[in-house]
Amino acid sequence: MTHLGRTVSILGVTGSVGQSTIQVIEELRGQGADIPVEAITAGRNLGGLAEACRRLRPKFAAVSDPALLTAAREALNGLGVEVGAGPAALEEAGARPSDWVMSAIVGAAGLAPTMAAVRRGAMVALANKECLVCAGPLFIEAANAHGATLLPVDSEHNAIFQVLTHRDRVEKLTLTASGGPFRTTSLETMAWATPAQACAHPRWSMGRKISVDSATLMNKGLELIEAAYLFGFPSEKIDVIVHPESTVHSFVHYVDGSVLAQLASPDMRIPIAYALAWPDRATVSTARLDLSQVGSLTFETPDAARFPALNLCRAALLTGSAATTALSAANEVAVDAFLESRIRFLDICRIVEEAMNSLEGSDAGLIAKTPSSFADVAAVDQAARVAAQRIAVSLAAA
Ligand SMILES: NC(=O)c1ccc[n+]([C@@H]2O[C@H](COP(=O)([O-])OP(=O)(O)OC[C@H]3O[C@@H](n4cnc5c(N)ncnc54)[C@H](OP(=O)(O)O)[C@@H]3O)[C@@H](O)[C@H]2O)c1
Repeated sequence: MTHLGRTVSILGVTGSVGQSTIQVIEELRGQGADIPVEAITAGRNLGGLAEACRRLRPKFAAVSDPALLTAAREALNGLGVEVGAGPAALEEAGARPSDWVMSAIVGAAGLAPTMAAVRRGAMVALANKECLVCAGPLFIEAANAHGATLLPVDSEHNAIFQVLTHRDRVEKLTLTASGGPFRTTSLETMAWATPAQACAHPRWSMGRKISVDSATLMNKGLELIEAAYLFGFPSEKIDVIVHPESTVHSFVHYVDGSVLAQLASPDMRIPIAYALAWPDRATVSTARLDLSQVGSLTFETPDAARFPALNLCRAALLTGSAATTALSAANEVAVDAFLESRIRFLDICRIVEEAMNSLEGSDAGLIAKTPSSFADVAAVDQAARVAAQRIAVSLAAA
């Protein structure tokens, strides 16, 4: 039996990671663990939020859209929960006194609520990779200043965290990538890919934005940036390798030639449970890895010609943290446009690249400077969104 007694909050409870987090909590509660829930949040999904309230019994629930306050109060009526709406309510969810906060809002929208948890020195289970890609150095600085514990939940970073025994004896990290749904698809076919095809990930069931990011390999590029900021390694010390079985979740190479890896079935409940029980481990009923069933593990070099996102991310990381902010924002705009069928699949990376080029050539080198505040980060994010939107509109009209 797991003895937790940890108060938790879940930012993004209605999403894929949020739902897996509920499952882990319910399973551990079923074993007798005491896991009170302080706060939960959603974007606009009131039905999903009400269902989460019934299952978790939180004290506070918030939605991102302020216009939904009345509707949210009605949807949650009788569930004994205080209700909030809008950006301040999301931040309140992060700021409320819980020991452990799951950061699982998608995109840069997750930054402010997660920072509210960081600022009070909470244990932050970080699924949202955009927090680090968008504001890496400032985010890490704040976590250190406030004594927050960052527990990576992205499966690759969680794997590295689990085997990073001698940080100063590391030669390099290797992030594994499934290769996504278009691993073996020709560029000609990828050009006509639909949102449904791009979201049909062969191994993981995830939200639509990260699914599209996996199809472009932008997800792996964002993870490269995330790893660089989180673990403090330069781009040249982080490799990416395609591993279609998604069984090895990353490698750490040490100076004596040893290579440590974490293996598991591709199931987000595993890194979530790890983060929830850390530094202990919890018993969860995830599929056990049967290597005789897996048979063989294969590895391939990513194809930079079909998947330019990786190099875009490396270039941004080398330019600096404003560039990674801009890249992430431009990608969010491009993915939205693709999911709404306004642009084609290959336009996603084109928009990101052109937005970066346009920002490099304007705004007195806005992305060459290192943001010194979250207000600076927001300004770069906004400039990149405007540039990406302009390019997306021109591509849609072409
Ligand atoms: N899914 C995975 O397996 C996985 C693995 C590793 C890392 N991650 C990372 O974890 C994060 C969440 O991924 P996901 O797949 O769980 O995404 P998802 O299924 O799309 O869920 C996103 C969550 O964020 C909420 N949300 C959306 N827009 C919002 C906004 N503007 N303000 C506040 N909340 C908002 C959604 O609420 P509504 O439901 O109301 O829209 C939902 O609760 C992403 O950063 C992703 O990269 C995911």
